[in-house]
Amino acid sequence: MSKLFVNVQNKKGKINKEIYGHFSEHLGRCIYEGLYVGEDSKIPNTNGMRNDVVQALKEIKIPVLRWPGGCFADEYHWKDGIGQKENRKKMINTHWGGVVEDNSFGTHEFMELCRQLECEPYINGNVGSGTVQEMSEWVEYLTFEGISPMADLRKKNGNEDAWKVKYFGVGNENWGCGGNMTPEYYANEYRRYQTYCRNYADNKLYKIACGANADDYDWTDVLMKNAGNFMDGLSLHYYTITKNWVEKGAAAKFDEKEWYTTLKKTLKMEELIYRHGAIMDRYDPEKKVGLIIDEWGNWFDVEVGTNPGFLYQQNTMRDALVAGINLNIFNKNCDRVKMANIAQMVNVLQSVILTEGEKMVLTPTYHVFNMYKNHQEATLVESYIDTKDIGVEEENQVPNLHESVSVDAEGRINVTLNNLSISESYDIQGIFADREIKSVKGTILSNEMGAYNDFDAPEVVKPLEFTNFKITDKGIDFKIPKCSVLHLVIE
Ligand code: AHR
Repeated sequence: MSKLFVNVQNKKGKINKEIYGHFSEHLGRCIYEGLYVGEDSKIPNTNGMRNDVVQALKEIKIPVLRWPGGCFADEYHWKDGIGQKENRKKMINTHWGGVVEDNSFGTHEFMELCRQLECEPYINGNVGSGTVQEMSEWVEYLTFEGISPMADLRKKNGNEDAWKVKYFGVGNENWGCGGNMTPEYYANEYRRYQTYCRNYADNKLYKIACGANADDYDWTDVLMKNAGNFMDGLSLHYYTITKNWVEKGAAAKFDEKEWYTTLKKTLKMEELIYRHGAIMDRYDPEKKVGLIIDEWGNWFDVEVGTNPGFLYQQNTMRDALVAGINLNIFNKNCDRVKMANIAQMVNVLQSVILTEGEKMVLTPTYHVFNMYKNHQEATLVESYIDTKDIGVEEENQVPNLHESVSVDAEGRINVTLNNLSISESYDIQGIFADREIKSVKGTILSNEMGAYNDFDAPEVVKPLEFTNFKITDKGIDFKIPKCSVLHLVIE
């Protein structure tokens, strides 16, 4: 029997709701088809946004949405996406699939989507192929209330009032698709660009600098040293790639070895946060600069027969475990991790939603976000679980169990626990120090490792009520089934 220790008196910090954030890029069928179908579509929509998708996303309480990229951000010129739609420039999305980008989804449409989702916008500006003036004017267009060329233009385009925009990214992956810069060069560019991203009236920007690719610790060091005083957040991108960049492996067809390799690779997130965090601590011991993990998730080969530039992949119980593990890791590091954005929201990489014409499917990853939503704005508390290493290869052993625990504003304890084993269930003794347990409500997501939801079978993987527990004088005893994500609400 494994012991799960929880001490609700030992409060570790607030879990920012933005840790449960999402990312939507002009890539494949994420924006077009997935989120936006246009007012004239026969798919039910409100101002062009799919009603079914918006409703499903509201259910999981999307706190923040990043847009327009990704690599697309450093090729995007925002003025192409405003004004009368028929006059907007048509161009080729050279980075993603070579399809026509008609710019029908631009700034106003993105802000409308955020209004419908009731989430914070996170806008990523263009450093790679843009100018300081262009970025500065975008901020002015979005947030300036008074009389100015950009505020006047916004009014002419139908928005009398300025919007509130908090999160603003100054470039994306500038070590790669965002300009192939060195950290020293980008740090200088960041300092210059951010100078002209103004705070107008009471709109206070939270400026996010482009951070490292995975374990590029030198990038973090240089950025913190040369520009740390000019940023509110520093990003980090880490994708879970089971095999390698050339052959990543299939999303829904894999064996036991691949299962454990994926989980092992995703657990690297813990080390990355620890090591980037330590460098940040050296320059910023008070942890004023947030670590913003604004791209994370599984990246597999595209589904056979789909455009290779569209990055469309299925989503199985393996994705559910990857989501559960990463969200637990972010919760447990909420002193430094202030936001995270899974890549990407709809139809791209590890999506929460897939669409095909009028049809929509909620993926296992969606259900995990739904089960974890109570952690948003809750207080992380001390927890520890006994684990043992499992796996089929020596080099890819993982802990069998993975947890995080928080207490919400109403005093309810939320436990999220993952069973990483594809074959074994485990008995757990939950020991809740200094806390009497009155009631427990459980939800479980469990299935075979390769199970997924598809358009003709959308409910193969779905959360069910979990009742296999017993309240004891120490806390609760329960059995967690194999290959599962469990959520317990304890009062
Ligand atoms: O999410 C897909 C791509 O991955 C993004 O455009 C880029 O930032 C990253 O390399």
